[in-house]
Amino acid sequence: MDKARKYLPELSGKKVMVLGDLMLDEHIWSKVSRISPEAPVPIADVLRITHVPGGCGNVAANVAALGGIPYLVGLLGRDSSGEKLVRALEKQNVSTGNLIIDADRPTILKSRIIAASQHVIRVDREDRSTVSPAVTKKLIKRLSELAPKMDAIIISDYEKGTVTAEVCQALIRLAKKYNKPLAIDPKGFNYAKYRGATVITPNLREAAIAARTAIVDDKSLSQAGKILLKHAGTRFVLVTRGKDGMTLFDKSGSTYIPAIPREVFDITGAGDTVIATLTLSLAAGAPIKTAAILANLAGSIVVGKIGTATCSLDELEVTLEGREPAQQKIKNRNDLASISKNLKNEGAKIIFTNGCFDLLHLGHVRYLREAKKLGDILIIGVNSDDSVTALKGPDRPYIHELERAEILASLECVDFVTIFHELRPDNLIKIVRPDIHVKGGDYKVADLPEKKLVESLGGKVVVIPPIKGRSTTNIVAKILGGKK
Ligand SMILES: Nc1ncnc2c1ncn2[C@@H]1O[C@H](COP(=O)(O)OP(=O)(O)OP(=O)(O)O)[C@@H](O)[C@H]1O
Ligand SMILES: [Mg+2]
Repeated sequence: MDKARKYLPELSGKKVMVLGDLMLDEHIWSKVSRISPEAPVPIADVLRITHVPGGCGNVAANVAALGGIPYLVGLLGRDSSGEKLVRALEKQNVSTGNLIIDADRPTILKSRIIAASQHVIRVDREDRSTVSPAVTKKLIKRLSELAPKMDAIIISDYEKGTVTAEVCQALIRLAKKYNKPLAIDPKGFNYAKYRGATVITPNLREAAIAARTAIVDDKSLSQAGKILLKHAGTRFVLVTRGKDGMTLFDKSGSTYIPAIPREVFDITGAGDTVIATLTLSLAAGAPIKTAAILANLAGSIVVGKIGTATCSLDELEVTLEGREPAQQKIKNRNDLASISKNLKNEGAKIIFTNGCFDLLHLGHVRYLREAKKLGDILIIGVNSDDSVTALKGPDRPYIHELERAEILASLECVDFVTIFHELRPDNLIKIVRPDIHVKGGDYKVADLPEKKLVESLGGKVVVIPPIKGRSTTNIVAKILGGKK
């Protein structure tokens, strides 16, 4: 790992072209509490809807999160999904100047209905037909203009019609001409169209399909690896194996890279993070094995988050430095349920509080310390980035949810932290069943909406008055030159 660490600073500023199938990922966060009278199906009451870049858009977002400069090339429809996708990309520092509008096809939209952190159903709207010759021409022209200026190139093929053999081979020729590393996240059977690329990154299922063989053990995996090296004609094949890490193949043999044990929230998009980290590391001059080790680490970080997520350079650095203790306190809902149940069985008095904690200040620290004095275990529910935006406005949060959680977790008085997506902590309170629910601030106990719920679960609500003048709003106003 130490060898890998020296490449991290080199990732910044590397230009990476990302070509592929562009999609808009929509998450419809909802509450399910009734069955439809029309048919035996649940009714999802929509709480809010969020949009993030999907497909190669998520790969580009990962390149940006790691400090690289993504040049995203893909197709957009002339529709509202296209507009939402452009906004979502810009929000993640991905420039949209190289996207091509194809008015003959809709922007690919994947809508996931999520209730109680579970995926209920996914609805896909897409046209998978091959792009027209006119659009192919525009694509190849754009690729030729950009290729000489890049440090590395990624092709993210979701088999939605953009990555045809013609487009693929044109880009591979350009990469060779300008001597740029080119990595491909492949799809389907026809790996011949990837011939001449540096590396392909199929997952286990994709590798088995393309090698037309079942992968049941190390022997059949290495067999498949050899078949793919021959069939795809690439220098390397990196088979990602989910919770088992990954295996790197080249002509001289294979290298196994074990997974980093993680609490898994959502594996969606782990492959996108892998190819973004791998390619940026190659652009930074790392040998393929070191690049794969960094990609494996980034993949393990991203599965620890809900929804389509990215891995930041900071997170890679923090994990490589092995600063774990505080992170151990950050728990998902399921684990928290069994933790608080066991603690209660042991007779522990549980204190619960929640908030955004965006720019932690002395007011927060003092009230948390006071809160801990009321019992044995202090559990904090911290609002996710989306819910802070919904509560506090588009410019918030200032600090990323994982960092806010880790900052809180690094306080000695705090025992557990969990990130919640709802606007209100009710579902968490039902899980934790606190003996005391604490609110820090100018609240009257009687006015607190969660009072009834807490008392119905056998607990009570306590308000801890704030330190006058200490608030995130004041700090920001001061920074912006307002006298407070
Ligand atoms: N449970 C896990 N624990 C630790 N690391 C994991 C886990 N799941 C995935 N990873 C990391 O993420 C990498 C990619 O995961 P996976 O093989 O599932 O890719 P994928 O199926 O292509 O993902 P995607 O859903 O984006 O297509 C793995 O090689 C590993 O490094
Ligand atoms: Mg994948």
